[in-house]
Amino acid sequence: MKLAIIIGTTRQGRQSDKVAKWVELSAKAIDIQAEIVDLKDYPMPFFNEAISPRYNPNRIIDPAVKLWLDKIASFDAYVFVTPEYNHSIPGVLKNAIDYLTVELVHKPSAVVSHGSVGGVRAATDLKEILSESQSVVIPKTATLMNVGMTNAVDENGQLSAELLANPYGPKIHLDNLLKELIWYSDALSAAR
Ligand SMILES: Cc1cc2nc3c(=O)[nH]c(=O)nc-3n(C[C@H](O)[C@H](O)[C@H](O)COP(=O)(O)O)c2cc1C
Repeated sequence: MKLAIIIGTTRQGRQSDKVAKWVELSAKAIDIQAEIVDLKDYPMPFFNEAISPRYNPNRIIDPAVKLWLDKIASFDAYVFVTPEYNHSIPGVLKNAIDYLTVELVHKPSAVVSHGSVGGVRAATDLKEILSESQSVVIPKTATLMNVGMTNAVDENGQLSAELLANPYGPKIHLDNLLKELIWYSDALSAAR
């Protein structure tokens, strides 16, 4: 399984890159081929195509957008790392998803969220948004509270000792989420 870990914000001083590194470390620890995809590396204009891209056979794709679409298409499974901004996902992530057409179809995706209350409202929204991309959104999520204030994860993606010691904490949730992704990825790639 080739896994993309998408960083859902480009904000200066963001915490989401640490969370993405935590996901990457956890995935690699169970031999998943994982790669972080940073929206900072895919700057795209605000979506302004005249027709919904799914229904536009004559679509002309902006070269900057094509880089994003090709990158996303090259994976089998996805973890979207999203913070919660104003009770939902960051605009930059929604914009990037609005460009997608076939890239996620029949492939599994999962959400890892963080924020003042674990980013749960953003996670709920994102699962619904991804379902319209015809991705198979897996039920399990992993959440982290107040990453910036609590140092839940360090710069290298290491979870704090306190959270690691919690048998009901985020480690077990993320490990279970990744195992589920492998299951869905195997099943769906066989079906595809
Ligand atoms: C513009 C903005 C809006 C936010 N809105 C919410 C919110 O509605 N609910 C919440 O729980 N946290 C909210 N937060 C807190 C963030 O979820 C938290 O700071 C998180 O670390 C942000 O991720 P980032 O550091 O990767 O940008 C907001 C933060 C920002 C910058």
